[in-house]
Amino acid sequence: MKTSLTYSGSYMESIYNNVETNINLAWWRYFPLFTGAMSYAKIILIVGAGPRLGAGIASKFREGGYKVALAARSLTTGLSAEGTLEIKVDLADPTSVPQMFETVKQFWGIPNVVVYNGANRLLTPPDDPFSASLETITASRTVGFDSAYVTAQEALRGFQQLSSFAAKAFIYTGNTLNQIAIPGVSPFAYGKVSAAMMIEYAANAYGGRRCKFYYVDERLEDGRPAGEDLDGVAHGKIYWELAHELVQSKWLVTFTKEGGRREFIGKDFDGYTREDHFLNMKGFGL
Ligand SMILES: NC(=O)c1ccc[n+]([C@@H]2O[C@H](COP(=O)([O-])OP(=O)(O)OC[C@H]3O[C@@H](n4cnc5c(N)ncnc54)[C@H](OP(=O)(O)O)[C@@H]3O)[C@@H](O)[C@H]2O)c1
Repeated sequence: MKTSLTYSGSYMESIYNNVETNINLAWWRYFPLFTGAMSYAKIILIVGAGPRLGAGIASKFREGGYKVALAARSLTTGLSAEGTLEIKVDLADPTSVPQMFETVKQFWGIPNVVVYNGANRLLTPPDDPFSASLETITASRTVGFDSAYVTAQEALRGFQQLSSFAAKAFIYTGNTLNQIAIPGVSPFAYGKVSAAMMIEYAANAYGGRRCKFYYVDERLEDGRPAGEDLDGVAHGKIYWELAHELVQSKWLVTFTKEGGRREFIGKDFDGYTREDHFLNMKGFGL
């Protein structure tokens, strides 16, 4: 085991691969933490908020003293009886995203945590990914990536105006599709792959300045996708932890309901990997 700080490849790799690494050699970037205002408005905006993930994440942050803003197509803009800010938005139109942030700002202020759940799960026959029209690809990508990109831009713009003391995080709800081409879901997968790359760029550029970016993907204990077993409460717990990490840890977060954060490779619903699918094409079978 290495005990001293050197710049050898293996040590740097160990920093990257240790999912809970909380070391940052650029310590001076954290100095404002100790000089900034000691309190800030705690506001979370959950974009694409429904009964499963949206509800689980909202509940955790509400318990932690946050004001909660939810955005989805079926909501009517205004305060609910419970004091939640609800915003009507259609993520099929990325130009509507800045107004969503403006609404949060007008009611409460700038959100310091922004979660993006939006997805448009369009499919193809499993053996014919190119049967999807460009319109289908665009429709899936617009919700899965384009609107997420504008949301991340707006989130960062807000983070840069907040107190240096505020916890700031943008969390994209992903799945295993950035790591494996599961047959039949290619239009949906292109958005997830692009979003994962966007998050990696953002974490590398802004993470060291305390604006954290994560791509989060729940798995079953054996590494298969959580799928229909996706758990809103477990998401609330890990999103809370990521939002309040002092230092950006690895941008790619895979986790399980019982075991918390754990590294996995991409697997499909039957447990097959991308290598298995390649060998299947070669005639070895699954
Ligand atoms: N890791 C895994 O295995 C796994 C499994 C399943 C899902 N996921 C991911 O989890 C996320 C969603 O999970 P969930 O369904 O449980 O979340 P949810 O918070 O229960 O629901 C998401 C909400 O997004 C809203 N939405 C969809 N399209 C929208 C649009 N065009 N504009 C605005 N809002 C829109 C819908 O509300 P309205 O109809 O009111 O707009 C929907 O209720 C997705 O990103 C998905 O890819 C991951």
